[in-house]
Amino acid sequence: MRLSHKLAKLANPRTVRSAKQHLGRILLTRRFVFRLDAGKIIASIERLEFQAIYERYAVENPGGSWRKYLDLKRWVAINLRRVRELELDWGRRKHILDIGSGAGYFLYICQWLGHDALGLDIEDVPMYAEMFEALGLKRVLWRVEAFQPLPAFDRKFDLITAFMICFNGHKSPALWGPKEWSFLLDDLETRLNPGGRIRLGFNQENDGTFYTEELRRYFIARGARIDQHRVTFGPRPPNRR
Ligand SMILES: C[S@@+](CC[C@H](N)C(=O)[O-])C[C@H]1O[C@@H](n2cnc3c(N)ncnc32)[C@H](O)[C@@H]1O
Repeated sequence: MRLSHKLAKLANPRTVRSAKQHLGRILLTRRFVFRLDAGKIIASIERLEFQAIYERYAVENPGGSWRKYLDLKRWVAINLRRVRELELDWGRRKHILDIGSGAGYFLYICQWLGHDALGLDIEDVPMYAEMFEALGLKRVLWRVEAFQPLPAFDRKFDLITAFMICFNGHKSPALWGPKEWSFLLDDLETRLNPGGRIRLGFNQENDGTFYTEELRRYFIARGARIDQHRVTFGPRPPNRR
């Protein structure tokens, strides 16, 4: 085929439509190839060094302590829900940063789905480091502090998450308000690729609320979509438009 003919074919609306359909099929395959099956995910974790970690740290009644994350069934289910809500079982490979990444289940499922996953956490709980090692995940050690930028990263992100947030002075008199959040969100936005999203998941404070009314109004004014403890910035995923 001559070059001029090839170029004409590329510009043809039917070729463009067929290419779009082909791309759609490729994107769809993530959903079918990587069917999110909690049993398979749990089995894949159990096969790793998880049992040794479990035996070192598990107690009968972990309460609200970090030992609760050894309940694989519960936490894989919670993190599968997070992955689905963010439509990460769909579409192209994304670069994801999870702040306060804990035991790493969310990032493990993301990585399992083919995404590029990076955690950020403090070093206080040795079990989190052991879990990251066992799960084959990477994290940056860093303490998030009010009015301090995050460290430099070697990439930009399509999604930045923080679930069950504790770095915001949670349950303390120093609980963050709009000024502290404004600083962090401004910083996070510089770390995003075009079209990137931020998902915050709040913990309940002592009075049972997730955030003050003042903070809720600030998030709304900044363009957030709020669903109880979930606060999201950036475009809706394609399926929810
Ligand atoms: C309640 S756990 C939530 C873990 C995980 N995001 C989840 O939802 O399963 C809070 C996490 O935040 C981390 N963290 C607490 N203070 C932090 C800070 N100032 N900077 C970074 N991470 C922090 C803890 O080490 C822990 O990993």
